Amino acid sequence: MIRAAAVQTQPIFGDVAANLERTRQLVLSERADLYVLPELFSTGYLFRDREETASLAEDYPSGDACRFLAELSDTAGAVVVGGFAEKASGGRLYNSAALADRGELLSLYRKIHLFDREKACFDAGERAPHVVATSIGRVGMMICFDWIFPETARCLALAGAQILAHATNLVLPYCQNAMPTRCIENRVFAVTANRIGEEARDGTRLAFTGWSQITGHTGERLAQASAESEEVICAEFDPALADDKQVTPENHLFRDRRPGLYGEMWR
Ligand code: ACM
Repeated sequence: MIRAAAVQTQPIFGDVAANLERTRQLVLSERADLYVLPELFSTGYLFRDREETASLAEDYPSGDACRFLAELSDTAGAVVVGGFAEKASGGRLYNSAALADRGELLSLYRKIHLFDREKACFDAGERAPHVVATSIGRVGMMICFDWIFPETARCLALAGAQILAHATNLVLPYCQNAMPTRCIENRVFAVTANRIGEEARDGTRLAFTGWSQITGHTGERLAQASAESEEVICAEFDPALADDKQVTPENHLFRDRRPGLYGEMWR
């Protein structure tokens, strides 16, 4: 069994030091083996343009948020996943997440499905979602709007993920209801860490929905946060249960697929 936590925060836009410190307090307030932090937890979300993104973005693995994730995972003796703005070579800017396991940064994921105005501030990731073998099980990272493309969770499940570490800044009201389906159709666990509060920049206002959620491999909500508070929600489960893809004695979620009949899906 492991104890997983979704850490629901309210970052202050642009105040990285304050956001890291508040996140540290929240994480250390609850013991867990896996902590998932929101998308862009260190900077806030609503960048004006690429220039502003570049001014707050950092390198992987040497930037402040990445070093923070490594240190926190060491202090907590846990796996920690969190989202940050990444500045890469050639002026590329990614909405990324990093995974640290007990003091060591193990992996980087760059969001492949950008949401709305993110397209003006980030480049879309070019690499397929992938699975990381960690001390607590096989973890696949995905970021926010990736959820609406069932291919993301499916790719991760087919690659062996037991747990989806889902860092979010949700503004549409659908994801929390959709994740049980993502989990049922792939028989995986999901830790969806969302943020709360509002951001307003240049006439655009976004309200983030909260309701961070931990979803079981058969679709049950194992834990859910409120819409208004910074908080840490936890649930215990056995990641190995995700290895059994048998839905009935005659139905295996992967072996029963009919890829030869799915035509357009493969273009
Ligand atoms: C989102 O992808 N941040 C909605």
